[in-house]
Amino acid sequence: MANFHHLRNEFQLYQLDEATLVSNPLDLFEHWLEEAITSGEPEPTAMILATADLEGSPSARVVLLKEVSAEGFDFFTNYSSRKGIEIGASGKAALVFFWPLTQRQVRVEGEVARVSAEKSDQYFMERPEGSRISAVASPQSREISSRHDLEMMYFDAASHPDNLSRRPDYWGGYMVKPKRIEFWQGRENRLHDRIVFTAGGVEEWSISRLAP
Ligand SMILES: Cc1cc2nc3c(=O)[nH]c(=O)nc-3n(C[C@H](O)[C@H](O)[C@H](O)COP(=O)(O)O)c2cc1C
Repeated sequence: MANFHHLRNEFQLYQLDEATLVSNPLDLFEHWLEEAITSGEPEPTAMILATADLEGSPSARVVLLKEVSAEGFDFFTNYSSRKGIEIGASGKAALVFFWPLTQRQVRVEGEVARVSAEKSDQYFMERPEGSRISAVASPQSREISSRHDLEMMYFDAASHPDNLSRRPDYWGGYMVKPKRIEFWQGRENRLHDRIVFTAGGVEEWSISRLAP
C-alpha cells in the first residue's frame, strides 16, 4: 500500500475576482494559457479529453489543443479511434487543462463537431513527415499483434509518397464548442476560486461562483 497524505502544496500565487473578470471566457482562457506558457509549463496545451460510450461509461485521455477561438477548442485525432467513435455517438465531450505552475485548472463541457476538411488538410500538411506517416499507418485504438507489426505498417505507409500529401479520411480535427467553462484558481487554505461561465445566447455568458 502507498499513501500520499503528506504530499500537500499551498496555493497562494493568484486570485480570481469578479471585479476584474472579462465578459468572454475564451478571452480569459487565452490569457491563462499565455501565462501557463510564459511560466514555463512543459505541456501547456495538453488537455484531458473525456468522452462516454452509449451506456454512459466514461473514458479519458490526453490530447493537444491546436487552436482556440471564440467558437471553441480544436484538436486532431483518428476519427475511428475509441474517442472518435464515442464522440460520433454522443456528440459531446469535456476537457480539462491543469497548469500546476500557475495553480490553475480550466474545465470545458460542450458539443463536438468535426472541423472542415480544408482545415484538417491544412493542419495535416503542417505536421512533420513522420507524424503524417504515423497518422496514415496507425489504426489508433485497435489491438495490434506486436511492435514489429506496427513498424512494418509505418514503413509500408512511408513507401507510398501519396501518404505525405493526402490526409486520410479517417484522420482530422474536432472542435469542442463550449456550453460551460469553469476557471479554478488555487487559493490559500483550500478556499479556492471557482468561476463558471454558462452559455446563453450568441456570445452571451452568465457568470456564477461555486464553492470550492
Ligand atoms: C502529451 C500527450 C499528447 C497527446 N496528444 C494527442 C493528440 O493530439 N491526438 C491524439 O489522437 N492522441 C494524442 N495523445 C495520445 C492519446 O492520449 C491517446 O493515447 C490516443 O489518442 C488514443 O486514445 P483513444 O484510444 O481513447 O481514442 C497524446 C498523449 C499525450 C500523453
